Amino acid sequence: MRRFEGRVAFVTGAAHGIGRAIVQRLAAEGASVVLADIETTTAEQVRSGLEKQGASGLVVACDITDRAAVDDAIARTLARFDRLDVLVNNAGGSVRIGEFEQTTMADWHRQLDVTLIGAVHAVQAALPHLLRVRGNVVSVASVNGLAAFGEPAYSAAKAGLVNLTRNLAVRYGAQGLRFNVVAPGTVRTRNWDDQPGALERLASIVPLGRVGEPADIAAAVAYLASDDAAWVTGTTLTVDGGVLAGPFGGRRYDDVHGLSPEVHGLSPEVHGPEA
Ligand SMILES: NC(=O)c1ccc[n+]([C@@H]2O[C@H](COP(=O)([O-])OP(=O)(O)OC[C@H]3O[C@@H](n4cnc5c(N)ncnc54)[C@H](O)[C@@H]3O)[C@@H](O)[C@H]2O)c1
Repeated sequence: MRRFEGRVAFVTGAAHGIGRAIVQRLAAEGASVVLADIETTTAEQVRSGLEKQGASGLVVACDITDRAAVDDAIARTLARFDRLDVLVNNAGGSVRIGEFEQTTMADWHRQLDVTLIGAVHAVQAALPHLLRVRGNVVSVASVNGLAAFGEPAYSAAKAGLVNLTRNLAVRYGAQGLRFNVVAPGTVRTRNWDDQPGALERLASIVPLGRVGEPADIAAAVAYLASDDAAWVTGTTLTVDGGVLAGPFGGRRYDDVHGLSPEVHGLSPEVHGPEA
């Protein structure tokens, strides 16, 4: 598939993990990609990998909490490629800050600044250019933005990103702009390196039996950013191996309540042979 031939994508947090996989996927499908990150040395390595595959990329040093830096990064994008079709708000990452009582105002500001205000900066800077080509925005939130998994500041910031997206989808739909969210569950990136065994333990609550890989998220972002999603806006696509599908993680309700079908007043025939 070459769904992004001739198009330009601007990806924040492009140097590592999910952002890197998004860059690689969009480039593999024909996009020219701008890699916006604070870690420019690593971003350059990703870019040089793209060029070996015949794709073109541009690294821009950009802290998305700094509006002037974001404006400059978008200006450099236009100077190099003369258009902007897709903005991916991905920069961030969870900061483990413990219980609500231990969450300082500095923690709240740090989370909100990167996740929510950073996305606002990028959308505001990109908007006139996206309007010109009827482009679209995909933001990477989290299942933490849709349900309580702890980390209240991170969770609230991601929830804000989800509802910002709905508002922008309604506001700019008539002008042909689309805004969507991908909400990943647990994904294998460096964010988990400091917690040995965590990914294996978390895999046990995933109905599909494994944690996600960055490429799983990149595939969903590519779908929403492509014309395949031409009539999709304001939506949140959960990509979590099924964690949010049921209230008990990977466990079946029957296994949790431990009651036999007879106690429910259901015959085994009605309830099914596995109950
Ligand atoms: N890994 C997971 O389990 C998981 C789950 C759900 C959602 N997410 C979300 O996915 C996104 C990517 O996470 P990841 O796990 O790939 O993290 P990561 O740490 O591997 O990559 C994050 C990237 O963002 C960049 N970045 C951080 N702050 C920045 C800033 N102010 N300006 C510009 N760039 C900045 C980093 O340099 C890095 O390249 C985040 O928004 C995260 O909240 C991750």
